[in-house]
Parts: sequence; structure tokens; C-alpha cells
Amino acid sequence: MDKFRIVGGTPLSGQLAVSGSKNSALPALAACLLTDEPVVLRRVPNVKDISTMRELLEYAGARVRDEEGRVRVHAKTLDRPEAPYEVVKTMRASSLVLGPLVARTGRARVSMPGGCAIGARPINFHVSALEQLGARIEQAHGYVEAQAPEGLRGGPIHFDRITVTGTEDVLMAAVLARGETVIRNAAREPEVKDLADLLTAMGAKIQGAGTSIIRVQGVERLHGAEHTIIPDRIEAGTFLLAAAISGGDVTVTECCPEHVAALTTKMELAGAEVDLAATDALRVRCARRPKPIDVTTEEYPGFATDLQAQYMAWMTLAEGISFVTETIFENRFMHAPELARMGASIRIEGRQAIIAGREQLLGAQVLASDLRASASLVLAALVARGESVIDRVYHMDRGYERIEEKLAAAGANIERVQARDL
Ligand code: EPU
Repeated sequence: MDKFRIVGGTPLSGQLAVSGSKNSALPALAACLLTDEPVVLRRVPNVKDISTMRELLEYAGARVRDEEGRVRVHAKTLDRPEAPYEVVKTMRASSLVLGPLVARTGRARVSMPGGCAIGARPINFHVSALEQLGARIEQAHGYVEAQAPEGLRGGPIHFDRITVTGTEDVLMAAVLARGETVIRNAAREPEVKDLADLLTAMGAKIQGAGTSIIRVQGVERLHGAEHTIIPDRIEAGTFLLAAAISGGDVTVTECCPEHVAALTTKMELAGAEVDLAATDALRVRCARRPKPIDVTTEEYPGFATDLQAQYMAWMTLAEGISFVTETIFENRFMHAPELARMGASIRIEGRQAIIAGREQLLGAQVLASDLRASASLVLAALVARGESVIDRVYHMDRGYERIEEKLAAAGANIERVQARDL
């Protein structure tokens, strides 16, 4: 099992380029199931979760090919509209194929995702929204089985709570449903808008994506299209925080500054200098310890839960006490005890972490528990005195493309090692 060995203390400098968004590419790949014509996606990141989604598409019967840095999906026929447990258990976002499969073929059999390190994460909202569109759904033997032999019909959907992949799943179903669907309390994340842009390029009729009310006029069929995935705002935010925590001077390129505005506002309040270096680049400089600035995670455009762990790593070095409140997931503080192994002082009280900033962190052996927790440990290790070894970096590989190469090119002392090399 791979680990990262990091020796802290070097301020990052130069440029860090952002890849395409994992959480946009996942629904975009699922959307390719909605047409029998080829769809070409540019800027799909080469990360583990994407290979998993590609596996799911192929399992259902689609052909997936790499073509000069682009991914071409051709779902000419779908003989097996299913997502098996073996694949779904490794990636919860597998439930994104439920909506497209039932909309396109009239049936779908998708394994229910189990628990997850950051919370229970059920898919009940996906299921009830699809039922609103006329799918008959049964849950048995760990699978969700959906039937709509006569096709889906549009209708009103009101999510009890904002759900990102739930909104995406039902949006993909609604584009092929008869009549109008209105999705209320929809997620406003840029990834939802990106999906709607792809679906529109495929011939769908969608209004309001990016707001909390999305209107869809169903069409009979969709056609092929080409689409470029938006930049990964969570990778961009991770890089901005990596630059700041290391006391560096870095330009984060190929990003969308507006998508990380909630983070950059907090970073400036905490004392980092963040400047627009180009329409798609942000320069960040931070020469001293941050001021303690509280954050509360929220749905977009609020502060992203996917950046909470990385931000907390920075606050462990603040000149005072800060509060980090997690409102999206019930168990997303698994990085706190690992950061404590590096000398951080963090007390967890329910949904709140109370962090007493320290002058320095010390390198240690730590364990990554999930994707963003592993990113927070890498950030802490970049500034900790001495060597850190981060175990279970397969979590990191799920969502960050060549992270150690990118950070090393900006001056970080980081290497990937096999357990036997240690
Ligand atoms: N929820 C339910 N029932 C549902 C769906 C969601 O109770 O049917 C709850 C969840 O348990 C959670 C809250 O609603 O407490 C919000 O979850 P949401 O459905 O929005 O999360 P998701 O769609 O499963 C996506 C991202 C996550 C990101 C969250 C929140 C993808 C593939 N995943 O998950 O990304 O944290 O939205 O922004 O888009 C990551 O990349 O590390 C990651 C976990």
C-alpha cells in the first residue's frame, strides 16, 4: 500500500495547475448513458473514482475509449443496466447511474452504497425523486431496482434537503421524461450547472441550473456532444491552502476564482494575500501564521465541506482559537485526531471543532481516513518540522491527479513510497 513521505518546512513557490473537476466528470460520464450516440468529454481527471465510473459504464454495455486526452463514451446499446455491489462499494457516487439507466432503458438495478467514513450518506432522496417521476422502485437484497416500462413522466420534485448527486441523478432522469419537471431546493453547485450544460449540448431543455429551481422540458431523445469539464474547485482550494500553510508564494492556474470565493474571502481575513493573477489564476502569498477565522460549512455558494479538513489544518497554526463547524456530514472530523498526532490542539464538540492554534506542528506517522482528510494531512505535513509518513494514500488517489508530482514541482519535499521501502 502506497504512503507519502513528506519533509516539512519548504515554502511552496511557482505554479500549481488545477485538473478537471472529479465531481463534475462523474455525473458527466453517467450522462453519456442517456444517448446511443458518442459523447466526447475533455479535461476528465485521471483519478481512481473516474476509473470506477468508467468501469460502471462498461459494465452496463457502453464503450469507453481515451482519445488524445479526451474520453469518448459510446452507449449504443445497454444490455445490462446494472451497477454491481463490487463496484458501488468502492464509490458512493455510483448511484449517479440510477437516473440515466432507468430513463434510457426503463429499468435499473443499482447496489445501495453502504456507510462511509464521513457519514451514513443514504440515497433516499434520489429514490423518492425518481418515484415522483413515475419509476416503481423496490429495495431488496442490498439493491435498488427501478422499473419504468412506459418511460418516466415529468412532475414536481421538492428535495427535503439539498443534495448534490441527488439533484444530478434526477436531472438526468428528467431530461428524457415526458413533460415538465420542476426541481425545487435543487443544489446550486457549479458541478450541477456543468452537468446541465453538457445535457443541453446533448439536446436537453433545461432552465435555472445553478439556482435552487431547475425546470426541465423532457425530450424524446438526446444526441452526441463534446464538452469540457470545469476546473476542480476543491483541488484549487487545496492548492491555495497548501501555498498559505507552507508560507509560500504560488499562482494556482487553470482554475475558476469565483468557485472558490467562499474560501478566498476567509483566507484574506486570516491574513493571506490572494490576488487575481489572470481570469483563471489566483496568486496566494502568506508569510506568517494565520489569524483565527471561524468557518461553517454550507452548500454552495457557502464554504465547501470538501475544504473543511484542509482549512482546519491551516487553523491549527493560527494565532488564537478558531471554530470550524460542519453542517453537511455528521462525521467529518476524522482528520482531527491525526492532526493531533502532529501536535495540533483540537477539541471536537458535536458538529464543532475548537482549534487552539500552535506555533508549530511536528512530523509524525498518520493515517488518512478519507479523501479530503488525506489532503489535510498532506498540508499539515508540508509545514510540520521533520518527516511525516501518511498511510492509506489510496484515499488521495481517488480524487487528486498526480498530487505528489504537482506539489514536488512547486518545491515540496514529498515522495510516494511503497510500504516495503520504509
Ligand atoms: N443525504 C440524505 N439522503 C440522500 C442524499 C443526501 O440524507 O438521498 C444527506 C447526506 O447524507 C448529507 C447531505 O444530505 O448529509 C448532503 O449530501 P449530498 O447528497 O449533497 O452529497 P453527495 O451528493 O453524496 C457530493 C460530493 C461530495 C461532497 C457533497 C457535499 C460528488 C460525487 N460528491 O456528495 O464530495 O462532499 O456533495 O458537497 O459530487 C468529495 O469529493 O470528497 C466528496 C465527498
